[in-house]
Amino acid sequence: MEIHIVEDVEAGARVVADVFERTLRAAEGSGAVLGLATGSSPVPAYAELIRRHREEGLSFAGARAFLLDEYVGLPAGHAQSYHRFIRENLTSHLDIADDDVVSPDGTAADPVAEAAAYDARIREAGGVDLQILGIGSNGHIAFNEPGSSLASRTRVVGLTRSTIEDNARYFDTAADVPVRALSQGLGTILEARRIVLTATGSSKAAAVAQLAEGAISARWPATVLQMHPAVTVVVDEAAASQLELKDYYRYARCLESESPVAVRG
Ligand code: GLP
Repeated sequence: MEIHIVEDVEAGARVVADVFERTLRAAEGSGAVLGLATGSSPVPAYAELIRRHREEGLSFAGARAFLLDEYVGLPAGHAQSYHRFIRENLTSHLDIADDDVVSPDGTAADPVAEAAAYDARIREAGGVDLQILGIGSNGHIAFNEPGSSLASRTRVVGLTRSTIEDNARYFDTAADVPVRALSQGLGTILEARRIVLTATGSSKAAAVAQLAEGAISARWPATVLQMHPAVTVVVDEAAASQLELKDYYRYARCLESESPVAVRG
């Protein structure tokens, strides 16, 4: 796990956008498969990608995208659906075909069948090249709440009270937040070839410490990412504040960017 502790949100957005840019360039010709996340954490990185597309010609042509999750019961056009969120915050501003941005159907008559079909669609697309993630304050990724099987697949999940309260800010009241979601499983997410997770603020500090340094356990679902060989974590100082090995992470990033002599001082 490669941990970047950044000065501010803008610096973090640039690190995340760099990972996207490398993935898009590597896949040129065949088209990258992107795994997209909702929530506020990735939004600055999405804004940076939109800027690079407009000002620097970064192209998403031929790319396809799969969302992590969707609320059960919200139609695609609902103001708080993740289908709509990703279009408003990213894909409608890029040269990526709308039909190529896929999310679970929250209104499917048979959500169990929809979940299995979703996993199959990702597989048929050749798997995800780059998955971006945020993290919940309780350590969830996508909507894999504490207690999720570390091998779980896309499925219907019940949301915890803390997640409902965290996400209530997007709705009129907490009672309007759907209590179930269709979510990629932890096993599904682990199949992405590269993962970048971004978090800011002290409310994420405990979850980030567990993610990087805690024992792998369903109690903190994001800890499963320790088993993945290509994870980049981008956090600000507040989100990094409970990491015990902070100094080592800084040193390791320094070694990558400067000559070993400069690092030895
Ligand atoms: C939701 C989403 C997650 C996201 C989390 C954190 O629960 N399903 O994918 O990581 O919120 O959101 P935020 O980035 O707004 O803190």
